[in-house]
Order: sequence, then C-alpha cells, then structure tokens
Amino acid sequence: MKQDMIVVLDLGSEENPRVAREIRALGVYSEIHSHDITLAELKALPNVKGIILNGGPNRVVDGVEIDAAQEIYDCDIPALLVDHRGDDPWPENQEEREAALKNFVFTICCAEANWNMDNFIADQVELIRRQVGGKKVLLALSGGVDSSVVAALLIKAIGKQLTCVHVNHGLLRKGEPEQVITVFQDELDANLIYVDAVDRFLDKLAGVADPEQKRKIIGTEFIRVFEEEARKLDGIEFLGQGTIYPDIIESGTKTVKAVKSHHNVGGLPEDLNFQLVEPLKMLFKDEVRACGKALGLPDSMVYRQPFPGPGLGVRCLGAITRDRLEAVRESDAILREEFAKHGLEGKVWQYFTAIPDLKSVGVRDNRRTEEWCVMIRAVNTVDAMTATVENVPFDLLQHITARITNEVKGVNRVLFDLTPKPSGTIEWE
Ligand code: XMP
Repeated sequence: MKQDMIVVLDLGSEENPRVAREIRALGVYSEIHSHDITLAELKALPNVKGIILNGGPNRVVDGVEIDAAQEIYDCDIPALLVDHRGDDPWPENQEEREAALKNFVFTICCAEANWNMDNFIADQVELIRRQVGGKKVLLALSGGVDSSVVAALLIKAIGKQLTCVHVNHGLLRKGEPEQVITVFQDELDANLIYVDAVDRFLDKLAGVADPEQKRKIIGTEFIRVFEEEARKLDGIEFLGQGTIYPDIIESGTKTVKAVKSHHNVGGLPEDLNFQLVEPLKMLFKDEVRACGKALGLPDSMVYRQPFPGPGLGVRCLGAITRDRLEAVRESDAILREEFAKHGLEGKVWQYFTAIPDLKSVGVRDNRRTEEWCVMIRAVNTVDAMTATVENVPFDLLQHITARITNEVKGVNRVLFDLTPKPSGTIEWE
C-alpha cells in the first residue's frame, strides 16, 4: 500500500470532516471511523500511523458517554485526544491548529505526505481486488459523477468482472445515455447493459401530477428495473456503490442524527443479498472529481452540475407528457450549450429549464399560436439550503430565448426565474 493514514475516531465532534480535510491538506490520507472500532479492525486498515480521538458535544449518546475501547488507548499507535467540550488543548487559531496537527502527524506519527490521487487509486485498486477476488460485481451506472467515477475505478481494478447497468428512464438530459455508452462501452470496454425503460417509466407516470408521488414512482420503478436485470445475471456477489463521504454524514453516524436518508445508503433492495463495494466512501465531492479526472473521464462527466435523481421528471411540471418532456430536454440542451459558450458553465452552480403545464397565446408567421412556455433557472449556492439567482447578461437571455422559441417545438414563450431560495426552492417541484 502506498499511502500512510491518520485515523480520526468519531467521539461526537461535528468537526471530524474538517479535521480529516485538514490532515489531507497536509498531504496525508485520513479516514474517519466510528468510536467503537476494535483494535483488530484498526490494525486491518492499511498503514495507520496515528489516531486522533476527537470528542465533542455529541459524545453523550442516549445518556451514555461513548469512548473508544481501552485496547485502542493501549496500542502502540500514537494517539491524540481532543475534546471540544471543556478545557480544550486544541487551538482555535488556524495557524496554531495547523502547527499542532503538523507536529502530531509528521513528528509524533512520522507519517509521510504521500496522499495524492494516483496513490489513492493504486491503493483502492488493490483493496478492491482483495475484497472481490475472482467474483463478480454489479453497478447501477446513472452517468452522474459518483457512479461514473466508481465505475471507472472498478473497471481499472477488475475489468470484466464488473457489470454496469444503465437504466434509461426517459428523464435524462439530452445526450446522457449516449455519453454513458460512448465512455464506458466504447472507450473503457466495460461490460455494459443498457436498459431502455423509457416507455415503462412514462406509462407508470402517466396522469400523476403530485411531485412526491412522481419521485416515489421513479425511485421504486428504478429499483424494480435494476432488480430484474440483476436476477438475469448469474453469480453476482457484490454491488458497487458510488457512496461518497457526504452521503454517509447526511445519512447519520453513530453520533450524528440523519439529515436525510440518502438513496445510496440504506435504500437498497435487501433481499438481493449483496456485499457492498464502496471505494469512494471516504472522499469529499471535489476529491471524487479529482479521482475521475485521474482515471481519464471527460470533464463534461466529472465537472457536471448537480442533477436530481428523478431527473427531468421534476422539471416537466405536473403530469408528465411526452411533448413537454421533449421540450424541456431540448430547451435545457440549448441553455447548457449557450452557458458553456459564454463561460458560465463552471461559474453557475446549477442551471436548467422547467416547463409548466401552461399554454399561452402567441404569434408566429402571422398566425395565432397556443403553445407552452419554458422557464430558465440559474442559481448559485454553497449547500443548496439557500440560493441566489445568477445575474445572467440580458443579451444572452434574449439570445437563448430566440433560440428556444425558434428551435423547440411547441414553445412560444421563455421566462426567467428571479426568485432566490427562500422563498422559492431550486427546483420547481
Ligand atoms: P431544492 O429544490 O430542494 O433543491 O431547493 C436542492 C438541490 O437538491 C436537488 N434535488 C434533488 N436531488 N433527488 C435528488 O437527488 C430529488 O428528488 C431532488 N430534489 C431536488 C436540486 O436539483 C438542488 O440541487
């Protein structure tokens, strides 16, 4: 194994992710583990050079103060105990804090600053091969950042022992299913099963106007299609997952209650009985992107903006119809093309079009029309909890409007959404 590691044991500090990031910023790999790890489990982790026992306000769980096992304190790995509740030896000042961390990591633990993406990938390839052996792995490949990066990493580690299933539910953006096929099947020579489930999803969604009901149908149907494909395959024992560290935090740890249950964690069909392979579960989003870059995935896949799981299904407002779904897909493609051309692609956090179930009167070639309108949304945010509207140049908006009304069938009007979050949400439903 190429990388040294400092383990942060979670004794209830909300700062654990920050500490892990600070150690990684020093060039040393760091992972957060639960306080009740056994010495045997700790020793099974590669190259552990030191342990930080990081306590805090959540240290008391169900009335009991949690602690690491005595054998952890007694072992020969250097340990630093930090507790944020009282007399804290841990400096708040950033410079002193970094000096204290450096002293622990480099002087006391003698760790080497050898954390980089190439070493991370080399170590994960070895760990995946150890875990999987000669067995087979199945992966749901949506084409999003996380599933694409985990697919590329698994292909590097085990090649054709991996089967990827890409379900096209008809709610993807223009060109996405094609990109998945080009990158994974044609370029990376993956075992890829492409499932065209467009009619199946749209039939199930027909007439359903309630957003939460739509989400539920899309989520449930997705699992069903995936299960059906899984059952057709023989001898699969592992399931690859694009779980990343923020998913784990949001789903709750032993010391932090769940913010929301994440579809990657815990939403699995239980009766499929797979063991999980989750090589990205200790990475933060920017590191996942760096990993994807290092694995040779295209920028358009690695740096793409967030896209909701239910896809265009929640942007074709109300009951989904095929004509409006195509209109939202086409207008979104035009918006993305123009934002890319005008340097807004990497600048604006999220931008898309939505189509309400609303027609208005217009005029085209001296004839009265009654057609749909399309809304443009472009927002910036740090954590998606609040958002501000991007100040898109007016002439660009006019140009996009002209393109959409000329090129997208059935659309005669374009609106720009000026609403921050709150009072709006980012999506319309
Ligand atoms: P809202 O609309 O709640 O969106 O302000 C915040 C962020 O979450 C995304 N979003 C979703 N992502 N499944 C997802 O995976 C969903 O059902 C969903 N709804 C909203 C949204 O695109 C934005 O980035």
